[in-house]
Amino acid sequence: MSHTESFKIKGLGGKRTLEGTISVNGAKNAVLQAFAFPFLFKSGVTLENVPHIEDTDRMTEILEGMGMGVQKTSAKSFEFKAKGTLSPELPYELARRLRASIVLIGPVLSRLHEVRFPHPGGCVIGNRPIDIFLDAFAKLGATLSEEGDYYVLRAPQGLIGAPVYLRVPSVTATQTLMMGAVLAKGTTTIKNAALEPETIALADFLNSCGAKIKGAGTPTITIEGGDLLDSGGKAFNVPPDRLEAGSFLILGALAAKDLTITGCIPEHIDPVIEALRSAGVPLEVGDSWVRVKSPAEGTLYRGVEIKTHEYPGFPTDLQAPMVVFLTQTEGESLVFETIFEGRLGYTEGLNKMGASIKMWDSHRATVHGPTPLKGKELEGPDIRAGLAYVIAGIIATGESTIRNAYYVDRGYEDIEGRLGKLGVSIERVTE
Ligand code: EPU
Repeated sequence: MSHTESFKIKGLGGKRTLEGTISVNGAKNAVLQAFAFPFLFKSGVTLENVPHIEDTDRMTEILEGMGMGVQKTSAKSFEFKAKGTLSPELPYELARRLRASIVLIGPVLSRLHEVRFPHPGGCVIGNRPIDIFLDAFAKLGATLSEEGDYYVLRAPQGLIGAPVYLRVPSVTATQTLMMGAVLAKGTTTIKNAALEPETIALADFLNSCGAKIKGAGTPTITIEGGDLLDSGGKAFNVPPDRLEAGSFLILGALAAKDLTITGCIPEHIDPVIEALRSAGVPLEVGDSWVRVKSPAEGTLYRGVEIKTHEYPGFPTDLQAPMVVFLTQTEGESLVFETIFEGRLGYTEGLNKMGASIKMWDSHRATVHGPTPLKGKELEGPDIRAGLAYVIAGIIATGESTIRNAYYVDRGYEDIEGRLGKLGVSIERVTE
């Protein structure tokens, strides 16, 4: 897996032929956060149902660089154990490559009383500042300095619990602060916390190991700080990836004869299910699966308005795949991206394929459909837009090359193998 790899896709030319089942992996945006767990534990901790994606490889390297022992105990299980003295410094080049590295700062700071980290990089989807993190840890008593290319947060006496109001309900700020507060002295209250279900899963596991976190999944989370945790041999089972489930469902709505997405929590993708249903897509929803079938011959789906919103609203991460869907629906659909200001740039690539998408400003676009798509050579600017281009390539006429497979690999394990089993003609090529 590298920057020089691409996906070559032979499009279905609008036919709906995909068939079978596809199971959903562990959630990227839960497992990357869980890589911060080891700093909260007295001895080791184990993660299970870990997807094999580029970002988990990078997090493994970051943890190893800080002195944490990481052992892969089976295809999907990792065991973490501190090997000796832990370093408070996140390796510069690695941490700059993925935004999720920022989730380490709370647990590292609370355990080691210091953390050194570069401005985290990641997908090019807008500004992505870290002011909320810095303000929050200042409230818990940390001081900030900038030393060379590093931010350094120090709390020589340890973090001290305090009330914190988040200006924006940032997902990773909520999670790193919640985890960091587990080892703080006294009580921390996070108000305007992010509501994503992954935060609940993290809190439930930490609570089962001795943490005292209340209210995860609600706008107010209260954490009573205490000592290092003890897993007692329990493992964190990474919950299913709702963004994978949503991506596969959108693909199914466009290209499936009969596709079942299994091992998911349908409730977590309610906004996608509802949007597809109002467009006219026939869906069946079970307790851990969703089935999508092709509609009657000649049926045209209706356009729907999409406004991204923090959970439980329509996820920004599914905005790009949804726009591909909207290129195939009748009429005009407004897309309003409210979370990130740079997350519509990929629409240019869809227009090259024949879509009719007009951007009004960096947050709003209208999609006119239906327009047949033609295969092209494209490179997605981020994980989700990369996957959206893969979907566009699948429904297009002719061949598409989606360059920089690395982006898709950051979030989706073996996409070519898994989609290939459904009947997609996709191969990884090295240039
Ligand atoms: N924000 C600030 N200051 C901060 C932090 C955030 O202004 O200090 C702003 C951001 O600029 C943005 C908004 O707050 O406008 C929300 O960003 P948030 O912090 O919630 O995003 P994140 O935590 O960096 C996570 C996911 C993203 C996902 C977003 C939104 C992880 C590792 N990343 O990012 O996932 O898009 O939440 O749901 O959990 C992806 O998986 O492809 C991905 C980019």
